[in-house]
Amino acid sequence: MNKKLEDALNKQISAEMNSSYLYLAMAAYFESINLPGFANWMEVQAQEEMVHAMKFYKYIFDRSGRVELMSIEKPPLKWNSPLNAFDETLKHEKKITSMINNLALLAIEERDLITHNFMQWFLTEQVEEEKTANSLFEKLRMIESSTDALFIIDKELATRVFTPPATATTTAATKA
Ligand SMILES: [Fe+2]
Ligand SMILES: [Fe+2]
Repeated sequence: MNKKLEDALNKQISAEMNSSYLYLAMAAYFESINLPGFANWMEVQAQEEMVHAMKFYKYIFDRSGRVELMSIEKPPLKWNSPLNAFDETLKHEKKITSMINNLALLAIEERDLITHNFMQWFLTEQVEEEKTANSLFEKLRMIESSTDALFIIDKELATRVFTPPATATTTAATKA
């Protein structure tokens, strides 16, 4: 595989790991303020980001590339409010979307249509990621400081479950 693309894909592994770490830190923050539903939602989010990281990891091997793991950042310990955490989540997902866009564009520049095709799943996923983060951000903004409404949302978020990817192979994973 093209070296420039390999480097960018490796960088994306750490970006996804960073996302996972950030959301796990948010889960811990929500635990600390007694919102177990929000904590559950963030825990599932963290697990999904690990799945994303593994998709890139496996793809690099599938293309006979070399995986190089990089350091991951220490996430913050706390946020000002649930609203602030979701504001940061939305900002973070927008940053990831632009990284994914750049990766897809780089694949075209390097005339690697297989990688370009691989990136499609992530482009679609980012639409979902931004949509969900935005809708939760807006909900929290609307309720302002109503604790009753906050507990209702917390109950709702407690129902989110992690669905592990069907198989470990990249071919299936890119279709999932
Ligand atoms: Fe991701
Ligand atoms: Fe994400």
